Amino acid sequence: MNILILGAGGREHTFAWKISQSPLCKQLFVAPGNSGTSSLATNLNVSVVDFEGIKEQVLTHAITMVVVGPEDPLVNGIYDFFLQDIELQHVAVIGPQKAAAQLEGSKEFAKEFLYRHQIPTAAYESFTKETVNEGYTFLETLKPPYVLKADGLAAGKGVLILTELEKAKQELKSMLVDSKFGVASTKVVIEEFLDGIELSCFVLTDGKHYKLLPTAKDYKQIGEGDTGLNTGGMGAISPVPFADSNLLTKIENRIVNPTVEGLIKDNLPYKGFIFIGLIVVDNEPMVIEYNVRMGDPETEAVLPRLKTDLVEIFQAIDNESLNEIEIEIDPKTAVTVMLVSGGYPEAYDKGKEITGIEDVKDSIVFHAGATNVDGRIMTSGGRVLTVTSLGDDFRSALETSYKSIDKIKFDAMNYRKDIGFDL
Ligand code: AMP
Ligand code: GLY
Repeated sequence: MNILILGAGGREHTFAWKISQSPLCKQLFVAPGNSGTSSLATNLNVSVVDFEGIKEQVLTHAITMVVVGPEDPLVNGIYDFFLQDIELQHVAVIGPQKAAAQLEGSKEFAKEFLYRHQIPTAAYESFTKETVNEGYTFLETLKPPYVLKADGLAAGKGVLILTELEKAKQELKSMLVDSKFGVASTKVVIEEFLDGIELSCFVLTDGKHYKLLPTAKDYKQIGEGDTGLNTGGMGAISPVPFADSNLLTKIENRIVNPTVEGLIKDNLPYKGFIFIGLIVVDNEPMVIEYNVRMGDPETEAVLPRLKTDLVEIFQAIDNESLNEIEIEIDPKTAVTVMLVSGGYPEAYDKGKEITGIEDVKDSIVFHAGATNVDGRIMTSGGRVLTVTSLGDDFRSALETSYKSIDKIKFDAMNYRKDIGFDL
């Protein structure tokens, strides 16, 4: 079959790498893609939210499966767009329908879902411009630090954690009254702070059954020792060494199973990935967020461990027969280390030539913000490349990635040399 992947990052390069290994995939397309995907597939110059443009490409290239990388098209209803179009109804879309995508599109919706299905999560209340004074009063009842979350999509920037009450009140006002995050902060969820260690769990569902993918932990901050500004992710490790079978059983029984059951009870059609962000407090897992897609760079550490044909899995998701598939996982540890443009996540330069990728033999280099200009690979984003290695443990895998990184060069290249430091 002909398959289209939507997106342009390291996650989508990893999907393309995995899908292109499947005998079930005849022709592979990525929209818009990057220099990495162009070496495995045909890049199509269409935006992920241009549904009419996507339709045209799907019909032109006889595409029968669309794998959605980022959240934007899902929250904007790409699945529903396909369902409602007579020419597109037969196409398998891997992702939730719009209603279920609100699990990521609205923090309040996600909290209501978690409460309704008695899934462990932080206590919260939500506020609007009209109730900002109640918001101040609620903050006064909490202990610091204070967690403020813009309700809508804010490109990963919508969560603020503040240590001082006055600052928290100011930020609440700035979000609600001064639209700090635009429409995304029309509503703000204020949450109890959970003190624990984070990990993520990845679930595949066909809307009836589910399968677990390996856990992963990502490193979000730019600076070593988890300091400085938040980024999209500076590296990831899979599996998470502290996620023993006891913790995994709790995660499955108290969180994953009630989540999939909750989707069924609430009549929220879902055929895709569920990415559950967790914090473990005193050995008890609690949900901090749902994402309705795979993580980036978690995908770059999770998918290289998957031995099963991904297209076969996607077909089973589409047919609602996921229960009949065996998911085989490589017991090795995978790590990925992100190479970023100097200055990121603030202002940075683009258009720097990248050299040395072809000298890397022991790792897989996934392209993120990189583009092919007349045969030369140039930087085109903040997160540029990510270097994945497998090893018997995360330390040996990291050693391999760092040796491979020594071969790669571009002007003002930056990366974290301490991925896994806390494990
Ligand atoms: P989110 O976008 O909801 O994942 O939040 C971004 C980051 O904020 C998370 O990865 C956590 O590190 C942190 N965070 C979110 N909610 C809480 C909470 N209730 N307690 C402590 N940290 C949190
Ligand atoms: N790495 C975090 C995310 O993809 O949201």
